[in-house]
Amino acid sequence: MTNGNLKGRRDFLKATTSGLIAGMLPVSLVRLAGAKEGNADFSFAYISDAHIQQIKGAQFVRNWDRGLIRAVAEANLLEPKPDFVVFGGDLAQLGSKPELDHGGEIIAGLNYETHMVLGEHDYYLDLGKYWGEQYGDHYYSWDHKGVHFITLNSILTYDDWTFNRWESPERRMNEMAGLDNPNSSPFMVGEKQLKWLKADLAKVSKDTPIIVFSHSPLQKIYKGWNFWTEEADDIQKMLKPFDKVNVIYGHVHQIQYNQIGNIAFTSVMSTAWPWPYPETYAQAESHLPILTVPMNRADPFNERDATGWQFMNMHTGRVDLEFNLYNNSNRTVAFNDEKGHPEDVSYRDPKMRTPAQDHF
Ligand SMILES: [Fe+2]
Ligand SMILES: [Fe+2]
Repeated sequence: MTNGNLKGRRDFLKATTSGLIAGMLPVSLVRLAGAKEGNADFSFAYISDAHIQQIKGAQFVRNWDRGLIRAVAEANLLEPKPDFVVFGGDLAQLGSKPELDHGGEIIAGLNYETHMVLGEHDYYLDLGKYWGEQYGDHYYSWDHKGVHFITLNSILTYDDWTFNRWESPERRMNEMAGLDNPNSSPFMVGEKQLKWLKADLAKVSKDTPIIVFSHSPLQKIYKGWNFWTEEADDIQKMLKPFDKVNVIYGHVHQIQYNQIGNIAFTSVMSTAWPWPYPETYAQAESHLPILTVPMNRADPFNERDATGWQFMNMHTGRVDLEFNLYNNSNRTVAFNDEKGHPEDVSYRDPKMRTPAQDHF
């Protein structure tokens, strides 16, 4: 299915479900900031890392299904409506057709145009072939209301690892799916895409706000879990001449935010499960951004704890994020114009921070 067909399918879904939605109570999660000249306020929603996992046949891991179904249902109830939804990658767990189909059916329930990001769990079985048939290009850009959006495929790696090392596609997928796996390989965007990015950015004026979507962080946080992209420094350098750049990424299944020069970085959560922060788990070198106030540890007795989805409000070319955490207080990370970086609006004062969970 091409992008065009997908859109047609969504328009159809929108037409057939609008009567239903009108009869429901909308949830209000939006605070619209005053628009500054030239930039219309708008918002979009972000859902990521669903990891839809087949057990066998039509049986899928219930908990991961429920997370995505809930996010789709809640996004459809947003009022005012977001302009579009981004799905941030890892729709499937092991990249199989049944997983991608089942996940695709759930996200097709969104009443909005949806932009897709490719995750490693969607890719390493058939190298993105089936995903591409459903959703189109692995990387692309578009413009919306004065903002330039770029979606990167940041989960590529060395050709030798991808093409020569494994006896089967299934083995390759399994090796890339694990954390702390010495057989894994670092994420990259690769030469070809870097060239494309350079050409794409050459067409954009320096005062146009830019939002980049990638699956992995375009900053180096922790290599063992691929909270990492090899060419992060090169990409940051390419984005440096622009006044306002925001990078939004999935993969880490936790709240992170950072500011490097002109670039604001914000992660999004998973609808499936939370990862711990690297330094709480591994003794290896890691670099959680010092700006980031970690999210609460998940409560293992609550199956949806520390998972959720996020709603972004854009004004003046910067992004404010509302993290909708199930079974935990929602958090808002907003760009502070005076300080020039994102900050957690309720957690910034250490006295107001919720202590980490200490029971198991
Ligand atoms: Fe993931
Ligand atoms: Fe991932």
